Amino acid sequence: MPSIVEPRHLDYLDSLKAAPDALIREMENYAAERGVPILDRRAAELLETLVRAARPVRLLEIGTAIGYSAVRMARAAGENAVVETIELSDEMIAQAERNFERSGAHERIRLHKGDAREILPALEGAFDLIFLDADKEDYETYFDLALEKLRAGGTLVVDNLLWHGYAAPGAEIPEKYHESTEHIRRFNRAFLDSPALDATILTVGDGVGVGVKRAT
Ligand SMILES: C[S@@+](CC[C@H](N)C(=O)[O-])C[C@H]1O[C@@H](n2cnc3c(N)ncnc32)[C@H](O)[C@@H]1O
Repeated sequence: MPSIVEPRHLDYLDSLKAAPDALIREMENYAAERGVPILDRRAAELLETLVRAARPVRLLEIGTAIGYSAVRMARAAGENAVVETIELSDEMIAQAERNFERSGAHERIRLHKGDAREILPALEGAFDLIFLDADKEDYETYFDLALEKLRAGGTLVVDNLLWHGYAAPGAEIPEKYHESTEHIRRFNRAFLDSPALDATILTVGDGVGVGVKRAT
């Protein structure tokens, strides 16, 4: 079937949805004004839907930024769930803490401050859902660590797998994206070929990978 999706179709579907609440819109505006790379709104809606469907109790995010996706996951996951999220940048940590405080879900969000490459291996127990959204150059490292921390049947969600349109052949890739594009291409192969996962990549936002860990 030929693709029917043009921007007007996305605009039409967006026009059917209620606007998110004031805090979410404020975070979106803050990120847009300062160039903070947060999850696309449509991808955030997909993530919330995955959370509601999978009903995870322990969630882990790698890459908090200002806390946009962490707040959306914590609210979608409900009262019994806890979102643990890892962030390296002091500036992002300060902003995320302010947003968590205002979200009404701050008691269910635990922020780990530091480098995910060190924090992730030290986290105890298995997670039901892991959202990977940190530096693209390290995705392959995080992938292996995340698979270890994900329970069988758990969900792994990964953002930016179309990488601003550069991952697919045919695009003029700016110099500063050469290396990261190669990483994303290698990651996409590894993600879809992994014997540990049933995985797919959806053309939502900047490309969202969704994998379910197989029982061993
Ligand atoms: C794409 S942003 C996260 C956006 C966020 N998930 C959202 O949608 O609201 C990526 C974040 O990962 C953080 N980061 C990059 N490398 C990291 C590392 N090694 N450990 C922890 N955080 C890291 C960056 O500082 C940045 O804030």
